Amino acid sequence: MEGWDEEDSLEAPELPLEIVVYILTFLQTPDRKEASLVSRSWYIASQDLCFQRNVTFCFPASTSSLELVRSLGQRSRCSLIIKQLDGFSLSRSLLQEVGTSVGSKLESLALPGSSVTEASLLALLPRLTSLRRLDLRGLDSLFMSGAFLSRKEHRQQIKSALCGLEELDLSDLRYLSDLTFNRLTGCTPRLRRLSLAGCHIAFEFDPYSGCPVGTVEVSSALLSLRNLRKLLTEQSATLVALDLSRTSVTPESLRTIAQVEGLTLEELCLQSCKELTDYSVEVLVKHQPGLQKVDISCCTELTSRAVVAVARGLSSLTQLSLSRDWKITETGLADLVSIPSLRNLDLSECLHVGGAEMVKGLSRCLSERAQLEKLNLRSCTYMRDEAVFTLTQLLGSTLRELDLTSCVNVTDLSVRAIATYLQGLLVLRLGWCKEVTDWGLLGMVETSACELDEEKEDKGPRFTRTFGNMGFFKPPRLPFEERPKLVTPDDLKHFKQQAGVSLLALSRLRELNLSACCKLTDSSITQVVRFTELQHLSLSSMTDITDASLSAVARHCRALTSLELSRCAHISDRGVEQAVPHLHRLQHLYLSGCNNITDKSLFLLAQHCKRLKTLDVSKCNKISGTMVDHLLSQLHFLENIYYKLPYGTDFSL
Ligand SMILES: *[C@@H]1O[C@H](CO)[C@@H](O)[C@H](O)[C@H]1NC(C)=O
Ligand SMILES: *[C@@H]1O[C@H](CO)[C@@H](O)[C@H](O)[C@H]1NC(C)=O
Ligand SMILES: *[C@@H]1O[C@H](CO)[C@@H](O)[C@H](O)[C@H]1NC(C)=O
Ligand SMILES: *[C@@H]1O[C@H](CO)[C@@H](O)[C@H](O)[C@H]1NC(C)=O
Repeated sequence: MEGWDEEDSLEAPELPLEIVVYILTFLQTPDRKEASLVSRSWYIASQDLCFQRNVTFCFPASTSSLELVRSLGQRSRCSLIIKQLDGFSLSRSLLQEVGTSVGSKLESLALPGSSVTEASLLALLPRLTSLRRLDLRGLDSLFMSGAFLSRKEHRQQIKSALCGLEELDLSDLRYLSDLTFNRLTGCTPRLRRLSLAGCHIAFEFDPYSGCPVGTVEVSSALLSLRNLRKLLTEQSATLVALDLSRTSVTPESLRTIAQVEGLTLEELCLQSCKELTDYSVEVLVKHQPGLQKVDISCCTELTSRAVVAVARGLSSLTQLSLSRDWKITETGLADLVSIPSLRNLDLSECLHVGGAEMVKGLSRCLSERAQLEKLNLRSCTYMRDEAVFTLTQLLGSTLRELDLTSCVNVTDLSVRAIATYLQGLLVLRLGWCKEVTDWGLLGMVETSACELDEEKEDKGPRFTRTFGNMGFFKPPRLPFEERPKLVTPDDLKHFKQQAGVSLLALSRLRELNLSACCKLTDSSITQVVRFTELQHLSLSSMTDITDASLSAVARHCRALTSLELSRCAHISDRGVEQAVPHLHRLQHLYLSGCNNITDKSLFLLAQHCKRLKTLDVSKCNKISGTMVDHLLSQLHFLENIYYKLPYGTDFSL
């Protein structure tokens, strides 16, 4: 796979280019990259325009990025995320190069963590004639002086380039004022999406002038509600998405925004708007009934009244986050999951939710209820096996992502239900589900057979403590009376013979998180963590697993790009040695607190995992600084390495 060899590729008959392109369309991006190394014709096929529609290049400002930007000139379109730009000459030349090489082809530009000067941005923006998305998040350096775009000729140049801009991200700008906001948005007359998250917006009272907002026309010190409303009115024909997260938007201000004439929002993000009340949500849904994506997470005053309002008022809802709205109870959830368009529901840290009402709502006939694809129930500690079992049955055909992290009362029964009914899952998170054991993952149930027979008699309602209709319960009769502490080799033999509802059934998994499931051991991990498409795996804080798990996982999950093994104290150089030859695609590796890892492992990583971007070896006392330096010199993509110096201070790059 090191390159192409003309001789080799001639031995097999060449497939026509269109056929290779067609084959490649079935692969995901990482696999396609890999496939492009097979031969020259496969490489050419991988460069086909149909794969390049939306490629984002993300890199820090450096001399080598100059070269990269120059090479991008050949592409028809691209998007850039350039980090760590500053006011110095390298950054200036880089932005200049962006203008020259990709200017008219650039679709999206973001400059996170930068402090660019006004002059270099003013020189660049007029050249970006195809720009659709501009992300100026946190670029305080531009707005601090208040003089940004103060000259009319600059505004005219920029307006003629950016008149097609659809998305503008101005979040976390401390110095945004009416004046600078108007100058900038005056150049972008047809916005579809605007983010002002984390900005200091004066909603009711202007502390500078000492009067209620609205009496001063245009402030040079603050962004006011009055001024924002003016923008919303002007661009109401195009604007569909607004983000006011982390602002102090008040109920009255939200009402003002919701009532802007002609404005029909589809997406509204109000994360951590602590002043919002149930009443504001009621008013919002009344005036913006077309909302599809709503994020009202961390709005801690909200109660179930808000849920009821959403359920009644938003018939096109597709996505809702209620995360950390901890006053929310079961009330209203049945109606919420009866919105047929709903696909994605986040109830994480809604501590009072136990699932009963959701089960009720989802039990309605298919056309009258949500067909959820993503469900987040993290830290819903009232979730128990009964609810998980019924939910998995009801959502089997559609659910792709399930998060049960920290649902501490979920046990093996739930895991078995997931493996039985949710075989289309792509993402499963079970971190901190401390009751889950090897039996659950292996699909062997510890309950003895006679108990189960009794349960079958139960003709009670669907949702009972006694698992009345757990149809899947034909567990193998275990070869012992009492539950043994550990799975024995005999048990494993038994496991291999049975056609299974073990975790193996989730053959499409791309992400699996089992961190801190401290009862799991090598017995299950070596047998069932075998997923050819798995990219992200977390086994952190699984204190019992050893090199055997690491080695088996690497052999069976070769697509891994991210692997978390922090605080797995038994992992040693031997495991790393057996694993790394299979982990060519690894980009992120976490080994914090794996104290038996030494320099040898780092040496092996440098040899085999050339694409490593993140390495966490903090709290690994046997790692030396010299070896860390060696790694840095060998691995060109390494961006972050966490390493604790011998004298105790943490050090990261
Ligand atoms: C392009 O990719 C970005 C980031 O992955 C995504 O947000 C955007 O929606 C994509 N655009 C299109 C047109 O697919
Ligand atoms: C979880 O289970 C434990 C033990 O069975 C019980 O004491 C606790 O109350 C349960 N927690 C919840 C939130 O149901
Ligand atoms: C896995 O879960 C743990 C615990 O919830 C979390 O800290 C970690 O970030 C997760 N890993 C991934 C890759 O999401
Ligand atoms: C670390 O390695 C040493 C020596 O090989 C061994 O004695 C010790 O048990 C290992 N520690 C753990 C936690 O596995």
